[in-house]
Amino acid sequence: MQNTKTGGFNLPSLNSTIRALFTGYLLVIGVGLLVAGGQILLTHGMADGKFGLSVDDVVYSYYGDRQSSKLENKLYGSMQDKAPRVVRQDIIKWVRNGSSEAQWDESIQQKFSNNCVQCHSVIPGLPDFRTYQGVKAVAQIDDGASISSLTRVSHIHLFGIAFIFFFVGLIFSLTIGIKKWLKTLIIVMPFVFLLFDVLSWWLTKIHPSFAWLTIIAGVGYTFASAYMWFISIWQMWWYPHQGITSSENPWFFSYK
Ligand code: HEC
Repeated sequence: MQNTKTGGFNLPSLNSTIRALFTGYLLVIGVGLLVAGGQILLTHGMADGKFGLSVDDVVYSYYGDRQSSKLENKLYGSMQDKAPRVVRQDIIKWVRNGSSEAQWDESIQQKFSNNCVQCHSVIPGLPDFRTYQGVKAVAQIDDGASISSLTRVSHIHLFGIAFIFFFVGLIFSLTIGIKKWLKTLIIVMPFVFLLFDVLSWWLTKIHPSFAWLTIIAGVGYTFASAYMWFISIWQMWWYPHQGITSSENPWFFSYK
């Protein structure tokens, strides 16, 4: 039962109370991570209009598409079928001429009322096109994430996710039979990748080529935490079942 490397307290020899606590936590975190992954696919993943996450999605989300406005991009893209061609051309012309409020009052508002507001006033999360302000916001050059949203999301991510990695890492630190350097490396990895992830959003806002860093960091901490998750669950439930309670187990790299 004794394992000197973890002072006798390790995952396979946990009593059922702590095992229940750890397992409950890991299950909820596991579901949470899957939901987060799904949400990323549906928001950032759709940024380039195609399903699945790509470097382009990251570029559109953080750097933007600085050739034109979101309004114009959408009228050529997923909103193309929402208005007749002449109407779309009139709107685009208005945007390119600086989207003045006078012209909005005169004729443009009517076009939005006829073609767009049946959705863009009721569907939550969509910009409200009943007002000039609502339209103006998407008629600017699309320069990606704003500094204020980046600041907000950065600190929420750093604080929130560090907590998740801390407890997942703490549980994983009680595994047996994994070489110390490897264990240390895997525990540190998510924190390092998290810093690079957040840093990469800011760098991508400045230059699109940093979008790669976002992808690498995301893949990095996903793999590291998934590894810790599976090994921890496995050692808590399968090892006791097999009677493995010390570091001399047949499955992994041994300490020596
Ligand atoms: C049938 C409902 C519907 C109508 C009508 C509609 N839209 Fe949309 N619009 C959506 C949905 C859903 C999205 C989000 C998905 C997407 O971006 O394709 C969206 C997204 C947008 C966006 C991007 C908003 C953002 O902040 O990311 C713009 C710009 C836009 N629409 C413009 C228009 C314009 C202009 C019209 C009228 C010519 C219009 N839409 C008509 C449903 C609609």
